Amino acid sequence: MERFSKIGLVGVALVLALGACSKSSTSSSTSSASTAPEATAAASAAASPAASVAAAPQNAAAAADGGKVYQTNCSSCHQAEGTGLAGSFPPLAGNPVVTGDATKVAHIVKYGLSGNITVAGKAYNGMMPAWGQSLSNADIAAVLTFIRSSWGNKAGAVTEAQVAGVAQ
Ligand code: HEC
Repeated sequence: MERFSKIGLVGVALVLALGACSKSSTSSSTSSASTAPEATAAASAAASPAASVAAAPQNAAAAADGGKVYQTNCSSCHQAEGTGLAGSFPPLAGNPVVTGDATKVAHIVKYGLSGNITVAGKAYNGMMPAWGQSLSNADIAAVLTFIRSSWGNKAGAVTEAQVAGVAQ
């Protein structure tokens, strides 16, 4: 009897896992099936290929690498949350240059920037080195995509080809 009910639960879990692809109204019975470890394992094994495809955004790899490139090369000045340091390093969060023209921001990161700028009402007159020597076009594209879509920024991805096309 116990064995029969486990098989039954595995069956239910499989049906739920398969059904979840086409229906969304399975939540009431999912919780009872998940109390049996075998059923949960079977359900997640059956569901995982579809779930991982559904969960991965198009540019997941680029966004992940971009975050890493940022932490390694940029966060020391612009800070982990993109806030910068008033008077020394401009913020990247909420900065219209970052979320504006992709070619312009790609040029700044690839070839560096110096001179007077005003960001969020504060003046900066610093110098950012060019990153085109130490980072590949793909790394720059990834970090640009990251800073344009982090900390509340909402601008589109930048491709490696776009960065490659930015001439000095
Ligand atoms: C050594 C400190 C330092 C590091 C590291 C650094 N930056 Fe900068 N960044 C600056 C400074 C300083 C400025 C402002 C330059 C000026 O005043 O003209 C700046 C400006 C910028 C701007 C332009 C902001 C605007 O409003 O015009 C962007 C975009 C930017 N940095 C992105 C990055 C990215 C991406 C990285 C990592 C690849 C990075 N920075 C690493 C110091 C740094």
